[in-house]
Amino acid sequence: MKIVVIQGPNLNMLGVREQHIYGHMKLDDIHAQMAATAKQNNAEIDFFQSNLEGELVDRIQECLGVADGIIINSAAYTHTSIAIRDAISAVKIPTIEVHLTNIHQREEFRHKSLIAPVVSGQIVGMGPFGYHLALMAMVQILKEIEAIKDTQKKALKEAKK
Ligand code: DQA
Repeated sequence: MKIVVIQGPNLNMLGVREQHIYGHMKLDDIHAQMAATAKQNNAEIDFFQSNLEGELVDRIQECLGVADGIIINSAAYTHTSIAIRDAISAVKIPTIEVHLTNIHQREEFRHKSLIAPVVSGQIVGMGPFGYHLALMAMVQILKEIEAIKDTQKKALKEAKK
């Protein structure tokens, strides 16, 4: 089970940036907690952050055939990037969208997520804990996909008898 965590612009500044909105936790600390949870669940996990839209698109594309799940906080690009939405849609890998803040409660321009229609689910407003929730949800989704594949394999074997 391989999960890739993709972080968008300015998230490298967590812990420094607008602490009254985004809190005190640094991105590395969030990732360290996720790595520990991934280990407990026998999942491989990889982390990527970029402030550049094209690099985020590249990283999503690189997941094709390699990653089983993507957890993404595309930050400000959530509200503007058709390119990121198209990349998620193109790779067809289960993806969970995370936002530290409740984007629906903030300025109007943050209410719309262009990626929401192409992801499995969205976790907003839970702060850093949202990443943990996303990881647990992803582990569950991937287990369910595995179970479906196993059932299909068994049914095929039976049918061949
Ligand atoms: C964010 C919300 C975005 O609107 C904002 O541009 C961010 C962070 C969040 O995690 O709450 O950079 O994605």
